Amino acid sequence: MEKTLILGLESSCDETAAAIVDRGREVLSSVVASQADLHEKYGGVVPEIAARAHLENLLPVLTETFDQANIHPDQLAAVAVAHCPGLTPSLLIAVTAAKTLAWAWNKPLIAINHVHSHLQAVMLEQSQQCFPSVALVVSGGHTSLYNCRSPLELELMGRTLDDAAGEAFDKVAMILQLPYPGGPSIEKLAQLGNPKAINFPRTYLKKGSLDFSFSGIKTAVLYHCRGQNMLGNNRVATMSQQEKADICASFQAAVTDVLVKKTVTAAQKVSAQCVILGGGVAANSYLRKQLQIRCEKLKLQLLVSPKKYCTDNAAMVAGLAWHKLQANLLANLDLEPLPHQA
Ligand code: KG4
Ligand code: ZN
Repeated sequence: MEKTLILGLESSCDETAAAIVDRGREVLSSVVASQADLHEKYGGVVPEIAARAHLENLLPVLTETFDQANIHPDQLAAVAVAHCPGLTPSLLIAVTAAKTLAWAWNKPLIAINHVHSHLQAVMLEQSQQCFPSVALVVSGGHTSLYNCRSPLELELMGRTLDDAAGEAFDKVAMILQLPYPGGPSIEKLAQLGNPKAINFPRTYLKKGSLDFSFSGIKTAVLYHCRGQNMLGNNRVATMSQQEKADICASFQAAVTDVLVKKTVTAAQKVSAQCVILGGGVAANSYLRKQLQIRCEKLKLQLLVSPKKYCTDNAAMVAGLAWHKLQANLLANLDLEPLPHQA
């Protein structure tokens, strides 16, 4: 009988994750151990701390993944791992584990690009098919637009020239002294604010460019909070909740405007009928809504990752691995972690 179950492993940043997925879609189990509490006091991920925590978390996460799926390793078709891009010490943990398990269980090993796998999350537990399409990945490390002819044929159309969208959310949250991680904190407070209160800059770069730049808006928020001469250091501490909420809502609206505009421009450029949205920032309800409104107007089909698979997880890794297995794109046991995209 054909084996269709894939074990996925993921440790590229600060989430230790494992999942077992059937035929790239049906999630039998998906376990994620977050390290947010360990990195909170530093305001960002510390690579050495992350790697050590991955090492501690991996076995319990794997055990729970098999317990929840209630399967035996014999039933697996392959072992897949996100091997790029990410923090090298972090990537190394899941890559080493995946190579060891593939060797010990005599299973094919599949190497997965973490950013590409974020797009595969739209297929999990959903039945739609939507290729060719234009896809936007918005995460803490990446903001990329792809022309996708199939799950394995992705052509980069645009990317951020500086900060990623998620990074901008995290840095603005830090300026406003909101809890880590910043994205969800900004979204929550923005619900109480007016998105038109402050006209933060929308950076579109040169005409027709599909690249992004979010460092300018981050600086604009900083100047707004501290004054043009940067002397008003303590203003955030004395700001009312409403003032902070207005900043959050206005910032979120400015970032969303740029993301939505460039995504639909990309779709029109290649005459795509479908738009895909994935990555941690895709969990943001305001972005989901605005993109949906725009796509409906232009009669574009929109596929958005289920919220629980927007942030880092291993189900998306196992999902994409199914397509690589079908295409017989296997890795060797000398697979290395790569900080940049392969
Ligand atoms: O995809 P992800 O889990 O990790 C990377 O591959 O980077 O994305 C994490 C990013 C963080 O910057 C986080 O603040 C952001 O996604 N994020 C959000 C929301 N949830 C997570 N940003 C905006 N709104 C959210 N609800
Ligand atoms: Zn990610």
